[in-house]
Amino acid sequence: MSVTKEKILVIGASGQIGVELTLALRNIYGASNVIAADLREENDLLKGSGGPYVSLDVMNKEMLHVLVLRQNITQIYLLAAILSATGEKNPNLAWSLNMQSLLNVLDIAREENIHKVYWPSSIAVFGPTSPKQLCPQQTIIEPTTVYGISKYAGEFWCNYYFHRYGVDVRSLRYPGLISYKSAPGGGTTDYAVEIYHDALDEKQYECFLKEDTYLPMMYMPDAIRATIELMEAPAEKLSVRTSYNLSAISFSPKEIAESIRKHIPEFKMKYKPDYRQVIADSWPQSIDDSVAANDWSWKPEYDLDRMTEDMLKNLKVQKAG
Ligand SMILES: NC(=O)c1ccc[n+]([C@@H]2O[C@H](COP(=O)([O-])OP(=O)(O)OC[C@H]3O[C@@H](n4cnc5c(N)ncnc54)[C@H](O)[C@@H]3O)[C@@H](O)[C@H]2O)c1
Repeated sequence: MSVTKEKILVIGASGQIGVELTLALRNIYGASNVIAADLREENDLLKGSGGPYVSLDVMNKEMLHVLVLRQNITQIYLLAAILSATGEKNPNLAWSLNMQSLLNVLDIAREENIHKVYWPSSIAVFGPTSPKQLCPQQTIIEPTTVYGISKYAGEFWCNYYFHRYGVDVRSLRYPGLISYKSAPGGGTTDYAVEIYHDALDEKQYECFLKEDTYLPMMYMPDAIRATIELMEAPAEKLSVRTSYNLSAISFSPKEIAESIRKHIPEFKMKYKPDYRQVIADSWPQSIDDSVAANDWSWKPEYDLDRMTEDMLKNLKVQKAG
């Protein structure tokens, strides 16, 4: 693998996934070869990792194009987006950012022969008419949120640019992602991060979803590994050029609370469902990722209890510091 020849641009690098993905890519490719870019300020965790940071609005195509040319970029990871819950508050903004950012990146990738592009989709592409259990790769897809609509349209743009122009763009339908390093950015599954903070700080949590709401979830180390494994897989192994189903754990608020009580027995939960319950109810409860397993040997490592143990251990250290 010609690791040293790559120059990587991560757009949305200060976000929940961006921070950890940038750190992981810097470990593989060298800090100076991975440029972090975001509209907001550089995340503190990135500052310590020695690589370059640029302020960028991905909607400004000229600015993006100049950056790609000046820095001799060979790979782009596009993580900037408006997520499910925030998107429902401002549908026009969600549609315009989620679509135009992708089209800007795909166009520049085509014109400048970028080696590879990564763009995440989401389980939010699925809607109430999709199967609830072990939702397959190919099935009925009728999303009801603007976020889901934008992700589904985006998947087909990726497929189009691959088949029509040969742009090697790769994608995963992430489930809800749980992490302790960088805060989540306005998704329906954010409760599964907040709960660990409140369990440690307050010994109680008020959940915005009902206790029996099962959703597909994944611990961040698995998501980062999946992303890198997909990007390193030989192109000829990839049969899906829209976006791969990806799965690890499925649990409800009640079950995550029970898992936390194994470490904090006095932890209490209250439930006060809000507008996010409707979004959660429209999604599958679990995902079939057998195509990813077959094509590039995807296999998750973390189950609920292992994740809880790791989250609580790391958050305790973080809060003490
Ligand atoms: N976190 C999850 O649970 C989850 C699940 C499924 C899919 N995804 C997808 O993964 C990607 C990253 O998600 P995340 O959770 O890290 O989101 P996030 O909101 O935490 O981070 C997104 C980052 O993009 C930046 N950004 C926004 N507008 C920008 C612009 N115009 N120019 C440059 N940067 C801009 C934001 O400042 C932010 O730092 C998104 O495409 C999201 O849809 C996330």
